[in-house]
Amino acid sequence: MKDINLAIIGATGLVGRTFLKVLEEKQLPISNYTLFASERSKNKKIKFMGKEYIINVLNENSFNNKFDYALFSAGKDISLKYAPIAVKNKCIVIDNSSAFRMQEDVPLVVPEVNCEDITTNQGIISNPNCSTIQAVVALKPLHDKYTIKRIVYSTYQAVSGAGNLGCVDLKNGIQGIAPQKFPYPIFSNCIPHIDDFTDNGYTKEEIKMINETKKILHDDNIQITATTVRVPVFNSHSESINVEFEKDFDIEELKQTLINSKGIIIEDNIYENIYPLAINATGKNDVFVGRIRRDYSVRSGINMWVVADNIRKGAATNAIQILEYLIKRNLSKN
Ligand code: A2P
Repeated sequence: MKDINLAIIGATGLVGRTFLKVLEEKQLPISNYTLFASERSKNKKIKFMGKEYIINVLNENSFNNKFDYALFSAGKDISLKYAPIAVKNKCIVIDNSSAFRMQEDVPLVVPEVNCEDITTNQGIISNPNCSTIQAVVALKPLHDKYTIKRIVYSTYQAVSGAGNLGCVDLKNGIQGIAPQKFPYPIFSNCIPHIDDFTDNGYTKEEIKMINETKKILHDDNIQITATTVRVPVFNSHSESINVEFEKDFDIEELKQTLINSKGIIIEDNIYENIYPLAINATGKNDVFVGRIRRDYSVRSGINMWVVADNIRKGAATNAIQILEYLIKRNLSKN
């Protein structure tokens, strides 16, 4: 078997460090890892796979036909600049930013939902937004069976979704120190504002959830609305998802459908106060679903509570599942 070379861009960030953890856990057949970050991390060392790795500073010549695959998580601007350079150098990019997600020739992939889209890639595969990933894992089996007509998303998103600085704001906020990342203190607060506002009154985060859900489920007919909120939780996003179906359903059969689906763990026993919690989801790769109940205000609908580690399943784990798929099927440009 030929050597597989992997580049990790943004290796010092929250998602980047989680890439390293998940790679250690999965032990994929990769021969060489090269870690990149900014000038700020020059010569910094990171312990990985039992060795010390020196961080390389990313530049235009970093790729030079050296890598089969690259995991990018250094923000949209870095992806826009460097992912096309990587592709020119025969490297397949798995990009965690929003830079290419809605581009028609770029597959947007959650492996449990649409892994077959990976094969259509032209060099870049996008990892969806963290809040979309966990939602579609729970929605896909229900859409297949009952055809989703409408979705109402309300999210309760952890500060880790805003990177290292988001976590610093929550930690500092406990001591009354002013925020650097968020527009208001996040400690003891909920901020209904994630990413920038657009002219139609929605935030970009809300629009991402709406558009990305349709793209991943291959269905533009689903009506979707969203309110995304930053809450004072360090890690793991929670989401209230209201779904309306075309078809009728039996609630026990619907729950069984979710139980039988890949990547989902059902935690749903109200008699014993069992439901998904952010503190329990943290550090896990699955999507946790509970509070599944009929919405009596419509003919055929449900409410559910969906929780996942936004840095793992919402970012690093999902990207590495895509990488695993490429490696298993020997899909590379070299
Ligand atoms: P660095 O640590 O050197 O700044 P987070 O979103 O958790 O803050 O992480 C962002 C990641 O993106 C970090 O690894 C950061 O590296 C990296 N990054 C930021 N700017 C650049 C750049 N110009 N080139 C390469 N990596 C970058």
